[in-house]
Amino acid sequence: MTQENQFESQFEDTFGASMLEHDDATPLNPTQNPTMGELISQRFSRRGLLKGALAVSAISATVGTTALIAADEARAQVYASQAKGSAFAFKEVEAGVDANHHVAEGYDADILLRWGDPLFPDAPEFDPARQTPEAQAKQFGYNNDFVGYTPLPGAADPSAHGLLFVNHEYTNPHLMFPGVVEIKDGKAVMKNATKERAEIEMMAHGATVAEIRKTNGKWALVRDSKYNRRITVATEMQLTGPVAGTDRVKTNADATGRKVFGTINNCAGALTPWGTFVTGEENVHGYFSGKLPDGHREEVNYKRMAIPSAPYAWGRFHDRFDLAKEPNEANRFGWVVEVDPLDPTSIPKKRTALGRFKHEGADAAVAKDGRVVAYLGDDERFDYVYKFVTAGRFDPNNRAANMDLYDSGTLYVAKFAADGTVEWMPLVFGQGPLTAANGFQSQADVLLETRRAGDLLGATKMDRPEDITPNAVTGKVYVMLTNNTNRTDAQVDAANPRAKNAFGHIVEIIEDGADFTATKGKWEILLKCGDPSVAAVGATFSTETTRNGWFGMPDNSVIDSAGRLWVSTDGNGFDVTGRTDGLWAVDTEGAARATSKLFYRVPHGGELCGPFFSPDDQTAFVAVQHPGDDGPDWPAFGRRSYYEDLSTRWPDFKPDMPVRPSVVAITKRGGGKIGV
Ligand code: FEO
Ligand code: CA
Ligand code: CA
Repeated sequence: MTQENQFESQFEDTFGASMLEHDDATPLNPTQNPTMGELISQRFSRRGLLKGALAVSAISATVGTTALIAADEARAQVYASQAKGSAFAFKEVEAGVDANHHVAEGYDADILLRWGDPLFPDAPEFDPARQTPEAQAKQFGYNNDFVGYTPLPGAADPSAHGLLFVNHEYTNPHLMFPGVVEIKDGKAVMKNATKERAEIEMMAHGATVAEIRKTNGKWALVRDSKYNRRITVATEMQLTGPVAGTDRVKTNADATGRKVFGTINNCAGALTPWGTFVTGEENVHGYFSGKLPDGHREEVNYKRMAIPSAPYAWGRFHDRFDLAKEPNEANRFGWVVEVDPLDPTSIPKKRTALGRFKHEGADAAVAKDGRVVAYLGDDERFDYVYKFVTAGRFDPNNRAANMDLYDSGTLYVAKFAADGTVEWMPLVFGQGPLTAANGFQSQADVLLETRRAGDLLGATKMDRPEDITPNAVTGKVYVMLTNNTNRTDAQVDAANPRAKNAFGHIVEIIEDGADFTATKGKWEILLKCGDPSVAAVGATFSTETTRNGWFGMPDNSVIDSAGRLWVSTDGNGFDVTGRTDGLWAVDTEGAARATSKLFYRVPHGGELCGPFFSPDDQTAFVAVQHPGDDGPDWPAFGRRSYYEDLSTRWPDFKPDMPVRPSVVAITKRGGGKIGV
């Protein structure tokens, strides 16, 4: 049996969706292909990968248990002081792991929307024992990731009445459905998906638009709002930009190459300056199965994206996810998708000009000359940092004129040099190596195979670029690099300076002239993550950072209206860092630079996504993703967590209610700006 067949027979369906998040950690850059054996050695919990890749290689192997214990004793002395000159004022949360979430003293963390919450007057109440695709399509989806807020036009208080946009990245069937996991020979094994289960999961993907209002300091859904909307795998979308209508995106079902149904694996996102939301299609490879016809022209393209990987069984029930039947369908995913929340009948647009890869988010800023610059991460080990500069200029007085800005402009990929400069190299057909000699016949070809174009230009191979956030207040840009334990000593470079980088780092870019459109700039490392009291880890938080304040695996980032950086994480855990994921406030300026403080932490097994601040900075919206997805690593639970035997039933804590990914609204008790 080949390794590939072994993978399919053991894990297709049985380990299902949860494999997906593993794969954003799988190196695909041609020089670093993983073996399939590495993939199949992982357990179905995504934490299994982290435990294997991070804890073993990074903590045990490089530091050792004895050193960890010694370090723990030393922490109290090392971190005795509090940050001086910090832009943040709050008493930080104690880092740790338990079944509940925790926020800084004096703040409330209220559950706003939970998986299954009805979003429309006619939506059924959540009944986990009797889920249907039809019910899920009218309820809040699973695994909330990006959260964005925009005021309703004309709202009396723009920070108390608006629209929330939330991504639903992926599904965890072992946590969602009763009867999915069986214990065989003492091991938890997931049953194969049925058509109905697959279709519930399809409806649990996508995004939600929800009108929300704050009354007497508390946020609530407006259930009868005309704006409320569920976007799912069935929602009609339009391909726009240079790839739209070209042959490589035409299918049996769509001869126009413009009409696509659905968006999948939507990770981070952003609010655009004109009040739409963009969402990044990330690990799209996992939804496609089957084999391309022999000699098909997409073989090289798909291999670079790891298509197919097929932890999902959708291709068994829907032909378009089977590459043998619809070889081009996968080219219609992997884009940045733009949604107008003010028009619930609007057709979401897949903006192909921004390139096709495992998109993280598309945080944007308006440059001095009015052009808009969106920063784009490709979350894969050894993949690249990009930015897109619009051809047109943002018009603050004419929303309609801005709606297609993302259809024309220039996509750039970054090369970080050892001398502290960064060069943005244009990905333009006909320039440099992006010609017919390398298989590109048009700009559409360059965009469909953005990664290969970046390879040819010699872009810098990064440690998994996640969110990249421009700070319009300071003019600087922050790049979250979450980890890359596969980087060897020989592969270390100035911008990715640690081999076996288990805990990630944050790069700060200052574009020339503080102009976001510049094609050159300078960069430096803001901080290297991990426990700074363990010398072998090489973390560089400021010495003002307390034992609670350091973190690993930066993922999402946001700048509040005061220009302060907040970072949420993906991958901390009991046996990895002794703490859950959470939201950290990170100083970037002055004497307190690189000081970090823990503001909020998630329940056991969860990851923190979002965050997003209301315009007045009085509410922080955060998304708790895949809570309860773990177990054995946490001694207080000590076994696999699944529907019938959960490590936490957050946020309801009712015996008949499973753990539910939820959006949380954090406010200061009595009102006021957060962290001030
Ligand atoms: Fe969905 Fe790159 O995180
Ligand atoms: Ca992410
Ligand atoms: Ca994440």
